[in-house]
This record gives sequence, structure tokens and C-alpha cells, in this order.
Amino acid sequence: MPAVVAIGGQWGDEGKGRVVDLLARHASIVVRYSAGNNAGHTIVNDKGKFALHLIPAGIFYPDKTAIIGNGLVIDPQALIDEITMLETRGVSTERLRVSDRAHLVMPWHPIIDQQEEQFRGTAAVGTTGKGVGPAFSDKVGRWGIRMSELADAEGFMARLRLVLDYKNEMLTKLYGVEPLDFDHIYETYREHWARLAPYVTDTSLICHEALRRGDRILLEGAQGSLLDLDAGTYDYVTSSVPTSMAGGAAVGAGIAPRDIDRVVGVYKAYQTRVGNGPMPTELFGREGDRLRDAGQEYGTTTGRPRRCGWFDSVAGRYTIRLNGCHSISLTRLDVLDRFEMLKVCVAYSINGRRVDEFPSSRLALEAAEPIYEELPGWEANTSDCRRFDDLPDNAQRYVRRIEELIGAPAALVSVGPERDQAIIVDPIL
Ligand code: GDP
Ligand code: IMO
Ligand code: MG
Repeated sequence: MPAVVAIGGQWGDEGKGRVVDLLARHASIVVRYSAGNNAGHTIVNDKGKFALHLIPAGIFYPDKTAIIGNGLVIDPQALIDEITMLETRGVSTERLRVSDRAHLVMPWHPIIDQQEEQFRGTAAVGTTGKGVGPAFSDKVGRWGIRMSELADAEGFMARLRLVLDYKNEMLTKLYGVEPLDFDHIYETYREHWARLAPYVTDTSLICHEALRRGDRILLEGAQGSLLDLDAGTYDYVTSSVPTSMAGGAAVGAGIAPRDIDRVVGVYKAYQTRVGNGPMPTELFGREGDRLRDAGQEYGTTTGRPRRCGWFDSVAGRYTIRLNGCHSISLTRLDVLDRFEMLKVCVAYSINGRRVDEFPSSRLALEAAEPIYEELPGWEANTSDCRRFDDLPDNAQRYVRRIEELIGAPAALVSVGPERDQAIIVDPIL
């Protein structure tokens, strides 16, 4: 039984953690394959509410292996904090495995992140400030340090010396900030290694052996397709590949693309975005506030208010196509329970011309005016519905219209953050 990937179809925070937590029961391994602790995945289960940044949602099942794949950049302190938080709250991390090929977020990365944002000024990306972008830049630029390098005291010392000498040149001469201290970083990262070593291994091999046995692997995406380095609203994107496209899920988990046989797109029933960049259906003023209040839309990682807007089916259709989604999980339908009328964007008007496909140009996206279709609300509580037929007629119509517009069926409709607050239309795994 091959791998299934759950990807974000919008600008992140679609409820991937919540969906993966639900689907994980059918898999033996759950793998995070990309990004770093810029992600924030919320899971609500019988042990309480958790925000995970690096560890995949499968960690809550004692019989599943939870893997942090080679596609991630890992801030070791953040990972240790997350492990400690889970252990303190009674969640075992015994079956957590971390790829020896994953890259490290080093102390200079958050500083460079902040400096670059300052330099961009009004054009700032609005990053999470975790140093994830600069860590990926270093990976591509061959200045990265990988997890396995921490194991060898002398090797790490030599590598750190080389990279830090270069980074200190940048910090002092380009940015005019204080240089970083070699001994302090060396000691700290060796201590991190002492704590993390039991988890670190060749995770690609674990996945390979599981696939050969016929086990199911679930790949947990981070961010959303519209933040993808290639496919997203460049340059207001993240520095990794959240999509399932080649270079995304398969590479980041260390498996072959042919091992992925199902792609599930996770979409919110409306649109949100944190950080800057174009968002054609963004609502401002009281309308935006109403949606933000109804959904309590504040970032899991940074606490920033999320920008909110109506469902954008132009963007949705685009990300369904890119990822080859077989089906979608539509989350947060309950947030719309009290709206008397809903809008769905069916096309854009750009400089007076109707546009049906998601444009690549930032200028075009900034100029895009949504063309809306209005749908009646249902003004009823959906959070207790467990079958599709239990949903009010107008809620069913809303879901069906989204399916039609984006071209993929809803296999799962989520009506609340708790594990059981879901309507399983079609078993995904
Ligand atoms: P992720 O980054 O894609 O995992 O999403 P986040 O965790 O950042 O944000 C999703 C938020 O929506 C979290 O607070 C979830 O607990 C919550 N959530 C997920 N599904 C539902 C749902 O169907 N209804 C409601 N009301 N909340 C949900
Ligand atoms: P999850 O996995 C929402 C956004 C940031 C910023 C841009 C670049 O929880 O859906 P970065 O720190 O990655 O260099 O910031 O990407 N961003 C996210 N937005 N959800 C996320 O992850 C995000 N990860 C990064 O807000 O706009
Ligand atoms: Mg999130």
C-alpha cells in the first residue's frame, strides 16, 4: 500500500494537522516532508490542544512511527522544546525518528531573516522570523549543516569554523551587527546532539522498508500550495516546496514519486493568509473582522491576525491541478454557520478582462478583482453533523458548488477542531 500525501491547497493553516490526525489511524508511518518550525499545526484530541511545529501529527498514536524527513530544516532547540512539551503532557516520543539528512537552522539564520525583512521595508514578505528561508538558501547554496554532521565532534568543529567565518563576515560587514561566538555555538549544538541523537537515523530507509512490507505512509504537508516557492505567489512565498509536485513530497520524505498514489488537498471553506502578498478575495473592515472573529483566525506560530476572505475557486482550481488532488478535505465549514449569505469567487476581473486561470504575475494578482457568485447561508449549527445528509441543504449546496468549481470531490468535511467532528464522505485511506 503506497503513500498518501495531505497538502495545503491555499496559503497555509487549512487544518492539515487536524486532518492528518484523523487520517493517521489508517497509516503506520506519518512523515513531515518539508519546511521547518515556520509551520504551526493544531491538533485537538483527548489529551488536549497541541500546536506542533516540527513533529508530525501521527505522534499521538502510540503504534505509529512519526518521521521528520530530510526535506526539513530543523531548529534543534525548537525540536527539543517540542519533544519536552509532548513528554510533559503524557505523549511519548519514543517512536519519533529524525532524518540524518535534514538541515539545521543555525543561530545566524533568524538574524539574517530579520535583516532581510528590514531591508525589504514595505516589500517585506512577512516571514515567521524563524530563520527558515535563510536556512533553505544555505542548503541550496551549499552552506548548510546537516543533522548527521553533529555526530562527529571534529568534523562538526571544522565545518562550523568554515561556515561561521563566512557568516560572521556577512553579519559584520553587510549587516553591521555583532559577530557570533564560535565556542558558544559549538557547545550548544553538541549538547543538542546529545539530546537528539537517539532519534536521528536514515528515515528514508524506514519508509522504504515499510512500503516494501505493504504498509501505508501518510505524508503531512506544511504551508499551502500558494506559498510554494515555484507555484505560489512569488516572491511572497516560503522557501520550500509545500506541494506534492516532484521536488516536494517525494524528495522531502526520501521516497520515489511512484510510491505516492493519493493526494488529498486540505482546503478551508473560505480563504486566509498570514504575512504579505496578494490575496484577491481579502475582506477588509467589518466584513473581514466578522470572518476573523467567527473563525478565531490568529496564527498558530506567530499569533498574528490572519487576513480573511471568501473562498477563491480560481486559486483552488489551480492548486487542485498542480497537486493532482484526488479529493479534498474541506475544513471549518462550521465557521460559516451564522452567515446569512456567502460568496465564492468564480473568476477574476483584471484590468476589465475576465480571467479564469490563476495568473503568475504579482501585478496581475494585485489588480485582480474577484467575480463573485452568491450563495445563501444555512444559519444553523453544523458542528454536530456526522453524515453529509445531516448538513442543512444550503451547506450541502455550498460544498457541492466548491467541488464543482475546483474539480475535486470532498472526501471529508470538517465541522469542528475535535477528532470526531468530521463527516467522512469517502474513506480517504
Ligand atoms: P494547519 O497549519 O493547516 O495544520 O492549520 P492550523 O492548525 O494552523 O489552523 C487551523 C485551525 O483550525 C486550528 O486552530 C484547528 O484546531 C482549527 N480547525 C481545524 N478544522 C476545523 C474545523 O472544521 N472547524 C473549526 N471550527 N476549527 C477547525
Ligand atoms: P502551516 O504549515 C501560514 C508564511 C509566512 C510568510 C511566508 C514566508 O501552519 O500552514 P517563512 O517564515 O516561511 O519564510 O515566511 O510564508 N507561512 C505560513 N503561513 N501557515 C504556515 O504554515 C506558514 N509557514 C510560512 O507568514 O507569509
Ligand atoms: Mg498552521
